[in-house]
Amino acid sequence: MTDFRIGELRVDGADTEARNHSSEEENEVWIKPLIHQSQGAKEFAYCPYSKFRVGAALLAHDGTVFTGCNVENASYNLGLCAERTAIAKAVSGGYRSFKAIAIASDLEDQFISPCGGCRQFMREFGDHWSVFLSKPDGSYKEMTIEDLLPVSFGPEDLKKKRLFTTENGS
Ligand code: THU
Repeated sequence: MTDFRIGELRVDGADTEARNHSSEEENEVWIKPLIHQSQGAKEFAYCPYSKFRVGAALLAHDGTVFTGCNVENASYNLGLCAERTAIAKAVSGGYRSFKAIAIASDLEDQFISPCGGCRQFMREFGDHWSVFLSKPDGSYKEMTIEDLLPVSFGPEDLKKKRLFTTENGS
């Protein structure tokens, strides 16, 4: 990759393919900071219609973090979710390989759960990476994309053998 990437924040210790953290260490080293960054992103939420703030922090394999918040619109259906904002920022910065995404909201007693559209949007980039559903107190539940969207449809399916294909656009 050329060096035009505009990295955002980083999470130290997260570019760990070769490292060997215990889960407790991992929690301290990168999961908590990632959740903290999703909470920070939530502060920028533009949600004058729903008044429901959401933040996301997306961790790429080299430790770069892209944050996102929901961005609503007076034409309601054009609103963007926090997760999709973060993913679009990452992809447009040259990143397609992700380790995890943390999501934060103001829901007091519930782990924020990504909407169906965001699950599919995340799944585009694989189904074996982690989603951290958090509460404002920083507690979290870890799930994989596959847990959240089982029996999913993805880019690989478009390459599979078909009984019929239209050719030349007809
Ligand atoms: N929202 C997100 O940003 N992410 C989610 O996972 C759930 C919902 C936003 C969309 C909308 O701006 C507001 O929350 C209420 O639905």
